[in-house]
Amino acid sequence: MRLLLIGAPGAGKGTQAERLAARFGIAHISSGDLLRQHVRDQTALGRTVKSYVDNGDLVPDQVVMDMLRKPVVAAVRGYVLDGFPRTVEQAEASYAAVRSLGVEVQAAIHLDVPREELVRRLLARGRGTEDAETVIEHRLQVYQEMTVPLLAYYAGREWMSTVDGSRSADAVHDDIVRRIQRLAAFVTIAPA
Ligand code: AP5
Ligand code: MG
Repeated sequence: MRLLLIGAPGAGKGTQAERLAARFGIAHISSGDLLRQHVRDQTALGRTVKSYVDNGDLVPDQVVMDMLRKPVVAAVRGYVLDGFPRTVEQAEASYAAVRSLGVEVQAAIHLDVPREELVRRLLARGRGTEDAETVIEHRLQVYQEMTVPLLAYYAGREWMSTVDGSRSADAVHDDIVRRIQRLAAFVTIAPA
């Protein structure tokens, strides 16, 4: 099974991806977690991306796509991608790349959460520079400008669902699983 989770900063992409990965035995691939790991390890890639991540700006497309290729191809039982694609350009470029490998996405879930709740969650979490109030504001603005057009681009596709992400993590998880099961009834989602 190959899934995408799309949502604003703090929408619960990481929280839900972890649960879905455990439930379906698929790989959780988070672009943000991988980038932060590179920054912590001070790799060449980490040094290149640090200021983008700290400031809440998107890292250049090519850097993210090069970083994700290997884990996506290695995920033979499937994956839940958290935080990628984030722009129409990333969606178009990556689709071309994965399609030839037969590992294109089968379902996308948009986690919809009101802005006040996003800010509340991120301030409560306080993940370093990234969760400073001004950086949170900037990340939300980048989401509006760069990722909301991706939702419009995917709108109307039968494999795209919007889920109310403001409920408890358990309720959101159950809703996502129901959507996937409904989708699996009419498209082929191989468990492996
Ligand atoms: P990324 O790591 O993707 O950050 P983000 O989109 O800002 O989202 P977060 O990880 O902060 O939130 P989340 O939606 O995962 O929510 P979480 O489950 O943690 O990206 C970081 C940076 O990397 C970007 O700014 C950019 O620089 C770069 N980057 C990444 N991908 C890129 C790409 N494709 N292209 C270019 N650059 C890229 O939950 C948040 C909090 O809320 C937690 O404390 C959690 O416990 C809590 N919570 C979760 N669910 C619930 C719930 N249902 N109820 C109550 N609390 C909840
Ligand atoms: Mg996350």
